[in-house]
Amino acid sequence: MSDALRFDDKVVIVTGAGGGLGRAHALLFARHGARVVVNDLGGSTHGEGANASAADRVVAEIREAGGIAVANHDSVTDGEKIVRCAVDAFGRVDVVVNNAGILRDKAFHKMEDADWDLVYKVHVEGAYKVTRAAWPLMREQGYGRVIFTSSTSGIYGNFGQSNYGMAKLGLYGLTRTLALEGRKNNILVNAIAPTGGTRMTEGLIPQQVFEQLKPELVSPLVGFLGSEACQDTGGLFEVGGGWIGKVRWERSLGIGFDPQAGFDVADVAAGWQQICDFDDAAHPADNIEALREMMANLQKYSA
Ligand SMILES: NC(=O)c1ccc[n+]([C@@H]2O[C@H](COP(=O)([O-])OP(=O)(O)OC[C@H]3O[C@@H](n4cnc5c(N)ncnc54)[C@H](O)[C@@H]3O)[C@@H](O)[C@H]2O)c1
Repeated sequence: MSDALRFDDKVVIVTGAGGGLGRAHALLFARHGARVVVNDLGGSTHGEGANASAADRVVAEIREAGGIAVANHDSVTDGEKIVRCAVDAFGRVDVVVNNAGILRDKAFHKMEDADWDLVYKVHVEGAYKVTRAAWPLMREQGYGRVIFTSSTSGIYGNFGQSNYGMAKLGLYGLTRTLALEGRKNNILVNAIAPTGGTRMTEGLIPQQVFEQLKPELVSPLVGFLGSEACQDTGGLFEVGGGWIGKVRWERSLGIGFDPQAGFDVADVAAGWQQICDFDDAAHPADNIEALREMMANLQKYSA
């Protein structure tokens, strides 16, 4: 394997790596030579309790296979402690895989503040805290790879997951801006929307498919995004069951009204089909491209 796909001089933090997808990521990085911080609070899928054995077991597994790893049992909401653990153990941080997560599924009319807040705290604040603590180190060393774990429930919506969907698409918003801010220091930031048979999806996916959706099938993409070979940033990738694809925004060409002459609700109704017509759609890659049609419309009708 090429050196750019190896991690011999790299330190990787994987959060929520005591089981499921995170464990598979940690094992993969260790197999490819990384020194790995296996973080896991060890609570339930609902975000209750704590148990050091989850992270400890994965560290033992890595060491038995000849790899290098340390366990960390802090919550991702104490991200600076996780980064400090990496620095104390290995002296640096090159890759952060923000993977820890919980579920508090409820139909929106039954949603309680505690469900909303805890899902936000673990997924969004947790990913923020870990990444925020690692960011200055990455800037200083002129190298970093950050992977956020989004979800198709955020991209497309999913019944009963308003809190989770909010958090997961929020992480893509974070990915897009950190990709812009990180690039000049060679910090590349991408997001994945994985599907895997883990305790989080057990009972939700038919058993036969569940068994086929092995967590290990997600990790090669995470390994690539975490490697020096990856030069892409700001991407969002759906991955699972051995399949990987990239997601992007698509916007219709839309309709331009004369801002001087004014337009009303009836004009919007009359133009609705055109507003929603995706033939020859655009794929703006950044804010400037996104605003281009709007600016062109202003120019077209300016005196
Ligand atoms: N499995 C899927 O199909 C799927 C789909 C979309 C997104 N995801 C996301 O992938 C990630 C991994 O999920 P999984 O399916 O492996 O589930 P999982 O429950 O097996 O793994 C999540 C891990 O995060 C840990 N964790 C929870 N809260 C934590 C905290 N505050 N601090 C540190 N660790 C904490 C848990 O102990 C657990 O080991 C999650 O972010 C999840 O939302 C999974």
